[in-house]
Amino acid sequence: MTDTVSFGYEDVAPGEKTRRVGDVFRNVAARYDLMNDAMSGGMHRLWKDRFVRRVKPREGEQILDMAGGTGDIAFRMARHGAAITVADINGAMLEVGMERAAKRGIDGLVWTEANAETLQFPDRFFDAYTIAFGIRNVTDIPAALKEAHRVLKRGGRFYCLEFSTTLWPGFADVYDAYSHRLVPKLGKLLANDEDSYRYLIESIRRFPDMETFKGMIGDAGFTQTRVEPVLGGLVAIHSGWKI
Ligand SMILES: C[S@@+](CC[C@H](N)C(=O)[O-])C[C@H]1O[C@@H](n2cnc3c(N)ncnc32)[C@H](O)[C@@H]1O
Repeated sequence: MTDTVSFGYEDVAPGEKTRRVGDVFRNVAARYDLMNDAMSGGMHRLWKDRFVRRVKPREGEQILDMAGGTGDIAFRMARHGAAITVADINGAMLEVGMERAAKRGIDGLVWTEANAETLQFPDRFFDAYTIAFGIRNVTDIPAALKEAHRVLKRGGRFYCLEFSTTLWPGFADVYDAYSHRLVPKLGKLLANDEDSYRYLIESIRRFPDMETFKGMIGDAGFTQTRVEPVLGGLVAIHSGWKI
């Protein structure tokens, strides 16, 4: 890994990024779900539905939902009868997820703290690996992608849902103005935390574009890598296959 990595628009030492990302998600955990609805006008629900349709979870499959946070992707996948492990580096996010699962009567999920860069799971264990709005927060992304490849069985599927860069020019300008000006203000208003939301927006800008990230997935050993842009690439679903 390089000497510095991006934390929003700042370049910081790798350890500092991990620590500060930890602070961000500890700070936002309690208000995370409310803020997702507020920031996206509820659209994150549609993106997550679409993502899970692409994953096609099946009964009897073992699926790792990495950076699973408060459980949105895991809850959707569990409906199809797959066995889901929700892993996240941040205990505060998992706590909120476990409370939500209990309220909804969803049981049988495994919740575990894990760093995507160094997983505790054995080789070739999972049928599918999902990561939604998580990878851009990981300090060493190539290490996380290699770990995803390691823990998947042969024939296993990798799916990533992440903000990217929309290729629709007019829309890009409007979105840029909205996200930089309004989202931190919304964060202040609804979660009393402007800085965390400024980081979340800046980290989207620093994330590699769709083709570059697709190449990184290939570099980790995946084949048949694909990208499906949503809203011109505002959000993207990347996938790959382990053979
Ligand atoms: C924006 S939230 C996404 C949560 C959930 N997947 C969703 O779509 O609502 C990003 C999550 O990534 C987690 N995260 C950040 N770095 C991580 C790492 N190195 N390993 C595992 N999880 C990480 C954070 O703790 C946080 O819960």
